[in-house]
Amino acid sequence: MSTNVTQTTAPAHAAEPEQTRRFTLGALVQTLAALPGAPTQHDLDALLRRLELEPEELRPHLAFKPHTYTRRRVFRNDLCEVLVLCWLPGQRTAIHDHNGSYGAIRICEGEMAEEMFALDEAGEVVPSETHTRAAEEVTGTDVPDIHRIGNADGGERRMITIHVYAPPLRVINTYQLGSAEVGECWPDDPANPANS
Ligand SMILES: [Fe+2]
Repeated sequence: MSTNVTQTTAPAHAAEPEQTRRFTLGALVQTLAALPGAPTQHDLDALLRRLELEPEELRPHLAFKPHTYTRRRVFRNDLCEVLVLCWLPGQRTAIHDHNGSYGAIRICEGEMAEEMFALDEAGEVVPSETHTRAAEEVTGTDVPDIHRIGNADGGERRMITIHVYAPPLRVINTYQLGSAEVGECWPDDPANPANS
């Protein structure tokens, strides 16, 4: 006895290879949330390079303030976190490291200035390299990078960046140029003006 097999038509998206579907901010979060273990720095870099954002996806996370850049969390679990940061011209971070976390940054709009620093023999902070990152570029934040990032635009151009860190940032170290003193900063502190 033969069995008739009816050929059904699969949904259009099911026939598409995975990589042809747009990798949205939501897809990034779903991917990170489903990971069984901590992503590597390479994983985070590769995921941010896959992002294909539409402006409306970022809109709920955008906030620009005259006196500080802002940071809005999109996702966090025990392994990693995703943040959207907004920067007006001239706004930048303190000189800092990530205290053992590594990550990646994607410039969604504008141009990011990144200054790298090193410690000299006396343990004092000295400048090393500077980079300018254009929109759509992805750059890694490794361990133990010491850097300062910001929107170096001298006009009116704003900047929007997406950051992923693993593990999520807790207390981080801050530095002063030409000094060996190390401070502490809790980026998530509700008192941090960037969060309010
Ligand atoms: Fe950083």
